[in-house]
Amino acid sequence: MRSVEWRDGTLRLIDQRRLPHELVILECDTPQAVAEAIRTMAVRGAPAIGAAAAFGMALAALRSPASDPMGLLRDLEAAAALLKASRPTAVNLFWAVDRMLRRATDERLGDPQALREALVAEAMRIAEEDVETNRRMGQFGATLIRDGDTILHHCNTGALATVDYGTALGVIRTAHEQGKRIHVLVDETRPRLQGARLTAWELLQLGIPFTVIADGAAGYYMRKGKVNIVLVGADRIAANGDVANKVGTYTLAVLAKEHGVPFYVVAPTSTIDLRTPNGDAIPIEERDEREVLEIEGIPIAPRGARAANPAFDVTPARYITGIVTEKGILYPPFDLHIRRALEPE
Ligand code: MRU
Repeated sequence: MRSVEWRDGTLRLIDQRRLPHELVILECDTPQAVAEAIRTMAVRGAPAIGAAAAFGMALAALRSPASDPMGLLRDLEAAAALLKASRPTAVNLFWAVDRMLRRATDERLGDPQALREALVAEAMRIAEEDVETNRRMGQFGATLIRDGDTILHHCNTGALATVDYGTALGVIRTAHEQGKRIHVLVDETRPRLQGARLTAWELLQLGIPFTVIADGAAGYYMRKGKVNIVLVGADRIAANGDVANKVGTYTLAVLAKEHGVPFYVVAPTSTIDLRTPNGDAIPIEERDEREVLEIEGIPIAPRGARAANPAFDVTPARYITGIVTEKGILYPPFDLHIRRALEPE
């Protein structure tokens, strides 16, 4: 199944909190349930969050008792505010909710039933486009991978983080499908362990050779010359090419530059936010300190210890070799090439 799936008027999500131990499906019937699934990271990863939020808007339309278009629009605006408050950094969430709202206003003069159907169809289009986009990025990105390469990867950017297939992990998948012999060094990705729990789970199923490493070991492998390329995803790319991604990404980028290792970001153009001029303007989510102080509910620090938990960091554009999008690979100067990539075709 897909990570984000619509079946008979219900949103079905693979509950990522339970992996790799259990494969559990979480069913969401209301926008409130979708917002909660995003907040608690049952669904996570920028494109997956975007698609889930789009279905949250479709659910808001289906559940609204309004019998006139204006009443329905008011309910949709309330759902949009709720969904947008669930997580702050991944811009795909805001992009998808705004696209659903635009669709709702297009249909304003139609009857509410037509509007409801149009919104379900739009959410399904967002989900389908995500899969298509990932496959295109896979094709572009795989040209960067040579037979025999060792790829360093951070967090989880696979089928779980998207509707299906994956962004950076999608590139790795495509290279593997092309018959290239590759090895993946999987950063465990503290504190939520998306690498050790989710990326390792996906790579095992795909039969792609990998080794999980502690986040702090990346420099060791780069210094030994064992890493040919670093591939990461993104939660928001600013207009100047600065990239917010899972905390620890910046460290990898600085290390990669020091060791002359190419550092690529793989993300759809829906992750680019032209309204954010640079990385300093990207809101960085601070999560509960317990995610650092505990692992799966078991305390690992002495009682009374406090922790800080920024979920993302910003990598300045100057550390990035290229950005793989569904429109091709963008190289510096990023501000210019990003603007060109987003111009209507
Ligand atoms: O906090 P998460 O797990 O939602 O963070 C996910 C990441 O940082 C991913 O690298 C990013 O969303 C790109 S996923 C295709």
